[in-house]
Amino acid sequence: MDDEKELDEVLKEAIKEAEEAESSRVLYEKKMRFLGRMGIVMNFMKRMKDVPPEKRPSFGKKVNAIRDRLEEEFAAFEEKLKKRELEKKIAEENVDVTMPGKRRKAGALHPVSLVKAELIDIFAGMGFEIFEGPEIETDYYNFTALNTPEDHPARDMQDTFYLNDKFLLRTQTSAGQIRLMEKKQPPIKMLSPGRVFRSDDDATHSPMFHQMEGLVVDDHITLCDLKGMLDEFARVMFSKTSKTRLRPSYFPFTEPSVEVDVSCAACGGKGCSLCKGTGWIEVLGAGMVNRRVLENCGIDPDKYTGFAFGMGVERIAMLKYGINNIKLLTENDTRFLGQFKEEN
Ligand code: PHE
Repeated sequence: MDDEKELDEVLKEAIKEAEEAESSRVLYEKKMRFLGRMGIVMNFMKRMKDVPPEKRPSFGKKVNAIRDRLEEEFAAFEEKLKKRELEKKIAEENVDVTMPGKRRKAGALHPVSLVKAELIDIFAGMGFEIFEGPEIETDYYNFTALNTPEDHPARDMQDTFYLNDKFLLRTQTSAGQIRLMEKKQPPIKMLSPGRVFRSDDDATHSPMFHQMEGLVVDDHITLCDLKGMLDEFARVMFSKTSKTRLRPSYFPFTEPSVEVDVSCAACGGKGCSLCKGTGWIEVLGAGMVNRRVLENCGIDPDKYTGFAFGMGVERIAMLKYGINNIKLLTENDTRFLGQFKEEN
């Protein structure tokens, strides 16, 4: 076949290929195959030296003409494909503004977080500073320094998770009292929130729960200060009509010790299943800091006195919201959790 005929064949083939290209990317690849620097058309240019001299001018013209023609053809196909691709993209990305919207569910704070934040608010307002102790404690901070030596029967009050001979999961945030008093001399006004752990499990007890510890040490601190502060706390936390009562109790680290009840919010004090018919719910333990505890921390018990209290955050949440099973607070069923919205 002579060269010029061959060129006509190439032209036909290239146009056919361009027609068949299904995307602008494929078209570009084909264009390179014909018109690229190493492409088929360029190869003809390189063959010029083998063409007899008298045929060279017409051959050169023909190659140029075919190259120009193909440039045009490919450009036209490219425009068409690009247009089609753009239309397709626009159609795909089209937003139907008449479709119903997707409702996003707003999250809410967990009732335990809500109550914890509220407690911190109330006591910070009274001038308490926040102090957080570790969850893994030594026997010394959790018990011994709190006037609860080994073999002390009070250790049985709290079933302890021991990690090894030395370490345990703290059973009470009271350990934080010692950690702070070791570092700081009175006046002390500390609030210590945190998780505590006990081997205990029923409708009102969970093996992990939250406590809020309070400690006030200064001169002339009395049980009256404790009672007045607790009354204020109950009024703010529950309702203006909430009442508290103190019952004598025992804790090794306080003397005297009391248990504090708040009138039941679920029944208004008439008696229901939540308060087991008594109209009262025990919310915290408290008392005057035992002088031996002050001594253990290097604070002079003849100069200073103090009170301490420890409350269960879950218990307060159950009382405040009328929740009858502590498990609801850890199951995290959103139908339950969705009912607690922060009050503004
Ligand atoms: N730590 C006690 C408990 O967990 C509560 C408490 C704290 C009692 C402070 C008196 C003073 O039961």
